[in-house]
Amino acid sequence: MGQFAPHSLSPLPPDQSKIETVKILKKAAKASFAIAELKGIAETIPSQQMLLNAIILKEAKDSSEVENIITSTDELYEALSAKEHKISPETKEVVNYRQAIMLGFQLLQKQGFIRVNDIINIQNKLINNDAGIRSTPGTVLKNDKTGEVVYTPPQDKLEIEHLLSNFIQYFNNEELRDDTPALIWLAVLHFQFESIHPFYDGNGRTGRILNILFLISNNLIKIPILYLSSYIIKNKSSYYKHLNQVNETNDWENWILFMLDAIEQTAIATKDQINSIRLLLEKTIEYVKLNAPKIYTRELVELIFEQPYSKIDFVVERIGVERKAASRYLRELEEIGVLKSKKVGREKIYINLELFALLKQ
Ligand SMILES: Nc1ncnc2c1ncn2[C@@H]1O[C@H](COP(=O)(O)OP(=O)(O)OP(=O)(O)O)[C@@H](O)[C@H]1O
Ligand SMILES: [Mg+2]
Repeated sequence: MGQFAPHSLSPLPPDQSKIETVKILKKAAKASFAIAELKGIAETIPSQQMLLNAIILKEAKDSSEVENIITSTDELYEALSAKEHKISPETKEVVNYRQAIMLGFQLLQKQGFIRVNDIINIQNKLINNDAGIRSTPGTVLKNDKTGEVVYTPPQDKLEIEHLLSNFIQYFNNEELRDDTPALIWLAVLHFQFESIHPFYDGNGRTGRILNILFLISNNLIKIPILYLSSYIIKNKSSYYKHLNQVNETNDWENWILFMLDAIEQTAIATKDQINSIRLLLEKTIEYVKLNAPKIYTRELVELIFEQPYSKIDFVVERIGVERKAASRYLRELEEIGVLKSKKVGREKIYINLELFALLKQ
């Protein structure tokens, strides 16, 4: 057995007194407040699709970065807008991640809950292979630097399946959660999912997608816009340490406080970001009205905010004009300095410079 002796992971729920300490409840109240504010601000953006596009890509990029999959923002947007662009494997993974989030979101909207099978499909989309739940023993979590085994998840497929079905019940059913605030449960569920570690790979990213789906299913936000990955990247070693200490010393408190802080900080940062996008959109509308009144429509300006890279096809599709007119719109927007064109392969794409700079931050 040796290092393969798996940790014996308890099914949910943990002892309520462990997850509802005074400190935790106080912090949960603060995090709830921040997230309620974010929800409110997000609803003031006229085009929810625009908001989603902008924020989801940043998350796909950040979350992949936890796994050291690095792609540049430029390359990512080019991959999404230009057909002929050669996609690097890294960028492909980030694009997959975005699709995996959207898949989860659609399933949740359609069904109102998530099944274990949905989780398997999300992970499959993410990693692009259908190995599914681990069935061969040997998966252990090691310290990146020292190579030392820090945690051995359950190895037996039946046990993994049992734990997953226990997990998904608590994920979906509020009544089982005994009035403990949902944000506290987000931390509990995330710990549990990562500790079950049901897949050979992609557990971290799948778990981060489940976090966002949990927020939506509890009506804390409406669309997938609150992502903890950038906080996790910045605090990666504390993230691992706190996860570990739940297993080693049953220290739920510090883990939950860590996750609540992640939620609070991220909600504040996302709110600011959304505010900046909204201000920039309004400013650009005024600017185009004034400097290119002949081509101005609100729709056109909103379109160039849907993603920072636009092209003639998008304008034709969305505004319903001929290619010639679409091309003229984009050229004029370039002339007044709102867009900047760039050749990718044989295609020309137009970058919304200020939006791009904002999203890059
Ligand atoms: N001691 C631990 N106990 C439970 N889970 C852990 C522990 N250490 C790390 N993890 C989880 O394992 C994840 C990594 O697993 P895996 O490589 O399968 O996922 P990934 O998506 O490929 O990676 P990453 O999360 O680094 O992007 C981490 O993100 C973390 O959530
Ligand atoms: Mg991995």
